[in-house]
Amino acid sequence: MENMNSYNIPGEICNKINKWLLKFPSNEKKPAIIYGLHQIQKESKYIQSAHVDALAEFLNVEKIDVYEIAAFYSMFELDKVGKHTISVCTNVSCMLNGSDEILSYLEKKLKIKVGCSSDKFFLKDERECLAACAGAPMMQVNHKYYENLTKQKIDEIIRDLDDGR
Ligand code: FES
Repeated sequence: MENMNSYNIPGEICNKINKWLLKFPSNEKKPAIIYGLHQIQKESKYIQSAHVDALAEFLNVEKIDVYEIAAFYSMFELDKVGKHTISVCTNVSCMLNGSDEILSYLEKKLKIKVGCSSDKFFLKDERECLAACAGAPMMQVNHKYYENLTKQKIDEIIRDLDDGR
């Protein structure tokens, strides 16, 4: 986990966390840890120790409580990653419909291996079934589903992301 000197949680994120906390008894702050980490990651792309410290202070919980959650869940990135996160489903339906080929096409096209990142793209992992088997083969890009993938469709998706669409 990298560290920057310090981090102040932006007011907009503080407001969102405070709103989220209204769902729980006033002395319960831990249920907002995951939510808070999500919001911070959305803004910063990955979690650094200064983020953990700031969120712990904001919620008045122990730093280790925040750190354990950030380190446990694979949805949180603790190392610097590219702007767009891609996960390809390689479970049975997708595998039978060519996910291996899709994955190696992406590796070649993005010039990165699974688990690696460039400045722009993070080819995060091979996923277990993402419950979109009817659209196999499929992948998730920044949590959005893309189904019935072909090489041509991937070219279009990557081009749109490159263009900032
Ligand atoms: S096997 Fe890929 S979405 Fe179900």
